[in-house]
Amino acid sequence: MLAQRGIDSVVVEIRSRAYCEARQRAGLLEDGSVRLLHEAGLAGRLDAEGLEHGGIYLQFAGERHHLDFRDLAGGRTVTVYAQTEVVKDLIARRLADGGHLEFEVSGTAVSGLDTRAPVLSYTAADGSRREISCDVIAGCDGFHGICRPAIPDRVRTVWERDYPYAWLGIMAEAPPATDELIYCHHAEGFALYTMRTMQVSKLYLQVDADARAEDWPEARIWAALQERFALPGWSVKEGPALDIAITPMRSFVSAPMRYGRLFLAGDATHIVPPTGAKGLNLAMADVTVLADAVEDLLLRGDERRADAYSDTCLSRVWRATHFSWWMTTMLHRTPEADPMEAALQLSQLRYVTTSRAAATTLAENYVGYPPLR
Ligand code: PHB
Repeated sequence: MLAQRGIDSVVVEIRSRAYCEARQRAGLLEDGSVRLLHEAGLAGRLDAEGLEHGGIYLQFAGERHHLDFRDLAGGRTVTVYAQTEVVKDLIARRLADGGHLEFEVSGTAVSGLDTRAPVLSYTAADGSRREISCDVIAGCDGFHGICRPAIPDRVRTVWERDYPYAWLGIMAEAPPATDELIYCHHAEGFALYTMRTMQVSKLYLQVDADARAEDWPEARIWAALQERFALPGWSVKEGPALDIAITPMRSFVSAPMRYGRLFLAGDATHIVPPTGAKGLNLAMADVTVLADAVEDLLLRGDERRADAYSDTCLSRVWRATHFSWWMTTMLHRTPEADPMEAALQLSQLRYVTTSRAAATTLAENYVGYPPLR
């Protein structure tokens, strides 16, 4: 987006290209994210390989209910296309355009953030130390990155919630046994059935917060998935595992998202649990707002959108934070929950699957919020 605006940028990444292109993350794009990739000229493979989905299933109490997003959310849909694939497309395009992109850097640091020339320093892969004087630094370096801690504590506020469970994800060479994603609430815990292609399934299981991969041999994973998704005459299609990983669940927001000439985006400044599939979509929304703000700031000397960056992003961030918390707490089994909590969850699920108003609330949050421009 910066290149399209004629603004030079340098991208540094501490991992290797191979690592970035293999790392498995979530895989669902809101319709606004699909549109952004189109506008950026990055939708070739997405159009060819993405799977458009017009709804989801909610399963609980032994029943599976379909929510039709096309009907409920004004024709809008979502697209299954893995974050890993988006990353591959971005890297390929950046390199083809001759853009500056360095992998395997180390010793990254930022300074001078409250001046007009903040500095990014790092050690390049060849061992040489570099210092780049910038107009703006975009901190897109994830939850464990260096940019958020570079903002003084006295100006930062943090909101945080850890959930008492985790997700175990398995990617398997097996055709999905379902046409749409299935979000399943079960006495044994939540399960999600999604996919990568028509040959590769991705499934998730709620596991204990301290679960280790060794506790979950493949046979145990499949048995738990079959039990939670069970319906008469239907079963999960099993196949060889391609990847198994455990993900903690957390809600986290740090504000403001800007300090001087440092602008934070994505997981560097907010984390949602994956139940609403919002993480990647929020990050894409942040950088879209940022590209416009940087364009005004650097090409026109107009600071208004840069000044508004944090508030503009945070209203969407908080909506997604609420939606992700709501989906998570509605669908998971809370360890040691009393019978009252379990009954309230069931009532909420019944409401969402029987009231058009309640279903519309879920649908419009799931497909995403109004376009950014
Ligand atoms: C995924 O495809 O990995 C995925 C989809 C929907 C979610 C979470 C993960 O809510």
